[in-house]
Amino acid sequence: MIVTTKELFKHAYGKYAIGAYNINNLEQTMGLFRGNLDSKAPFIIQISKGARSYTDKIMLEAIIRGADQLFPDAVFAVHLDHGDEETCYDCINSGFYSSVMIDASAEPFAKNIEITKRVVDAAHAKGIVVEAELGKLGGVEEHVSVSEADAKLTNPAEAEEFVKKTGCDSLACAIGTSHGAFKFSGSQGLHFDVIAEIQKRLPGFPLVMHGSSSVPQDEVARINAAGGDLKGAKGVDAGQFRKAAELGVTKINIDTDGRLVWCRVHREAFRDDPKNFDLRPPGKIFMKEYAAFIAQKNEYLGSAGQLDAVRRMLKA
Ligand code: G3H
Ligand code: 13P
Ligand code: ZN
Repeated sequence: MIVTTKELFKHAYGKYAIGAYNINNLEQTMGLFRGNLDSKAPFIIQISKGARSYTDKIMLEAIIRGADQLFPDAVFAVHLDHGDEETCYDCINSGFYSSVMIDASAEPFAKNIEITKRVVDAAHAKGIVVEAELGKLGGVEEHVSVSEADAKLTNPAEAEEFVKKTGCDSLACAIGTSHGAFKFSGSQGLHFDVIAEIQKRLPGFPLVMHGSSSVPQDEVARINAAGGDLKGAKGVDAGQFRKAAELGVTKINIDTDGRLVWCRVHREAFRDDPKNFDLRPPGKIFMKEYAAFIAQKNEYLGSAGQLDAVRRMLKA
């Protein structure tokens, strides 16, 4: 069942965070649904601009609709990840997405407000909710490239003004993370002081943490042992998720870790069976491993075991 992120956040706020997982293909989708049902968790499917054009947005939509039919107990939101204004309108008008992210964080403050407000007005007119972003993460996003040196944490006073002026439904804040597999090159970590100050100014308002992959070191070691070259890869300690959730972080974005599972499974499968050229044996392993990965993440997020309570809330 497709719901808005707003409904999911209402249940989660202050207690746990909802996992927001990016998908690009059929195998990821199968693993995602199975993993969330196995762990009884509500979830958010994230679709980036790159994912929409990898095969085609229509193909991705059809895969998700198929999964919704196949797994009728699943409760999830369909969300555009890091959208520009044009892509937001495309998703809002598609009738399929329940949530969009407008990422105008590379623009000056006033321009970010102006663009975000336009998207909020268009989305709300159709019952769709909007995530916006303020501050700059390190790493590379879809259409925004920011060097680690320029990474800029969200200013709490600006966050308060931004939310009041735009009417957005949730806010992605830069609190020390970056996208990809190489986070925290220096002595960085999560800035809980910044999250706490934003929560104080915006009590009850859902915050979003991007760049939250943990980049497990055993996964990196297995990839490297099977021919990969990911030396120095490092991520966020998943043990910090619950603390962030208590401070109002209700959505935690994870993509890179899923790619690492895919990479490890396929590297090891072809290394261990060099005569194989059938895509299905590694595909089957991947779907199973990806489901287990999702279920484990949901334990860290605290979303595991919440599905029945969310269903009851939706019925009430
Ligand atoms: O934040 C970006 C996500 O990891 C999506 O990545 O734009 O390569 O699909 P992508
Ligand atoms: P990671 O690269 O840490 O998985 O972050 C993903 C993300 O923020 C998607 O919007
Ligand atoms: Zn992101």
